[in-house]
Amino acid sequence: MSDNVFPSKHPLVAHKLALLRSVETQPKKFRELVREISILLAYEATADLDLKPVEVTTPMGQTIGHELTYDIGLVPILRAGLGMVEGVWEMVPQAEVWHIGLKRNERTLEPMQYYAVKPVEPHVQVCLMLDPMLATGGSASAAITLLKSWGVKRVKYLGLIAAPEGIARLQVDHPDVPIHIGAVDSHLNEVGYIVPGLGDAGDRQFGTA
Ligand code: PRP
Ligand code: URA
Repeated sequence: MSDNVFPSKHPLVAHKLALLRSVETQPKKFRELVREISILLAYEATADLDLKPVEVTTPMGQTIGHELTYDIGLVPILRAGLGMVEGVWEMVPQAEVWHIGLKRNERTLEPMQYYAVKPVEPHVQVCLMLDPMLATGGSASAAITLLKSWGVKRVKYLGLIAAPEGIARLQVDHPDVPIHIGAVDSHLNEVGYIVPGLGDAGDRQFGTA
């Protein structure tokens, strides 16, 4: 695994992923788990963000605290990435949320863009891309290309489960983008689903299976 791929080693992530994968897990619980795992992954993915010192007055006197240097953008890939926003946003409530809508063609597995909303003049210094599944990597690669075309210089990818094929694709297309992932699975099946994976992340969140 390259230096730029960070599979979580956290026991809570592993525990919650097992619950998430289970075919018994119903949409309400599934959404809770997506939210919780996303918070844990965001904690890991933001560990290298820069801070600047700030003066703070406590009830006991003066001290030096710290605040984030950057403006942060959260970029969920619709629709399954939506479930990752709320928890991460709670951790960085000052973040902007931009939306990119992509849908894989079920036959070709190529992503089709149907939606994109960003500020007129994007100015964030780092974007956290949120999408639970990195399968062929086509959707993540296309979304990162779009972000870069908007002028974003630094992107981090946060996902719940990846296939080795998707990681390899992102590393070729966007070697500068670190991949923070809950788990790396065995392979893609013949119709582009991650094995063992969890099935369709969008359908399982939104009850559309
Ligand atoms: C899923 C998933 C990713 C994409 C991953 O979305 O949320 O965006 O597939 O596959 P890839 O790595 O092969 O591109 P999907 O296209 O099913 O849309 P949905 O979220 O609306 O269900
Ligand atoms: N999208 C999903 O939701 N699941 C997969 O296994 C692959 C792509």
